[in-house]
Amino acid sequence: MSSNSKPSIGIVGGTGDLGRGLALRLAKAGHTVLVGSRKSEQAVEAAEALTAELAQRGVAHPPIEGLDNESAAQRGEVVFVTVPFGAHTPTLESIKGAVQGKVLVDVTVPLVPPRVARVQLPPEGSAGMIAQTLLGEDVHVVSALQNVAAAHLQADMDIPCDVLVTGNEKTARQTVIDLIESMGMRGFHAGLIHNAAAAEALTSVLININKQYKTHAGLRLTGID
Ligand SMILES: NC(=O)c1ccc[n+]([C@@H]2O[C@H](COP(=O)([O-])OP(=O)(O)OC[C@H]3O[C@@H](n4cnc5c(N)ncnc54)[C@H](OP(=O)(O)O)[C@@H]3O)[C@@H](O)[C@H]2O)c1
Repeated sequence: MSSNSKPSIGIVGGTGDLGRGLALRLAKAGHTVLVGSRKSEQAVEAAEALTAELAQRGVAHPPIEGLDNESAAQRGEVVFVTVPFGAHTPTLESIKGAVQGKVLVDVTVPLVPPRVARVQLPPEGSAGMIAQTLLGEDVHVVSALQNVAAAHLQADMDIPCDVLVTGNEKTARQTVIDLIESMGMRGFHAGLIHNAAAAEALTSVLININKQYKTHAGLRLTGID
C-alpha cells in the first residue's frame, strides 16, 4: 500500500458505466486511478473525460491515467474488475499474474441476456466464486457493489445505499469497506465469498423493481448504525 494509506486503484474495464462511476468517486476520495481498457487509447480518452468532469465539479484530485487492462492491474494496489459477465473469465485470466498478492474487487453480476431480470446464477455458485477459484488463494477476492447503480456512482450526489461485501479474508473485506465509505456509501461484512451469490442474485430483483417503479433502487440495511 502507499505510505499515505490511499492505495492506487486499477480499474480493469474502467471505460464502462460502472468503472467510470468508481473512477470519479475514488479519485475524489484521493486515490490515483488507473483506468484500464482492452485498447489503451480508449482508456486515455476515458481518463481525460473523467478528469474534465471532476474539473467542472471543482474537485482537486490525484491523477486519473488511462492504460491497457494488464498495466492497470499491474500498477493498481487494489484492482477492480468491471466487465460484463461474458468477459469475466477471459479478463481474469489475462490479469491473473498481475494481481497475485492483491485485493481484487469483483463487481460482476452474472446476468444472462436477454433475461437479465431473472436470477440465473452460474453452476459455480457466483461470479465471485469463479474469480476466487480461477485466481487462486494468493489473490484476495472481494465481491461488492452489485446493487449500486452506475448512474448513481457517476452523478454528483449522495448515494444512500448500503453495500454487501463478501470475501474469504476479513482484512481484505475491510480494505474494500473503507473504499466504499470513502465513496459515500456504507459497506458491511457479509461473509465468505460463497455469499457473493446473494448480492449477485439481488441485482435481478432490483432490475425488476427498477422497471416497475422507474427508478434506480438500492439496498438499505436497518438495525445497524
Ligand atoms: N451498470 C451498472 O449499473 C452496474 C451495477 C452493478 C454492477 N455492475 C456490473 O459491473 C460490470 C460492468 O458493468 P458496466 O455496466 O460498466 O458494463 P459495460 O459498460 O457494458 O462494460 C464495461 C467495460 O467492459 C469492457 N468489455 C466489454 N466487453 C468486453 C469483452 N468482451 N471483453 C473484455 N472487455 C469487455 C469494455 O471496455 P473496453 O472496450 O474499453 O475494453 C467496457 O467499457 C458488470 O459485470 C455488471 O454486471 C453494473
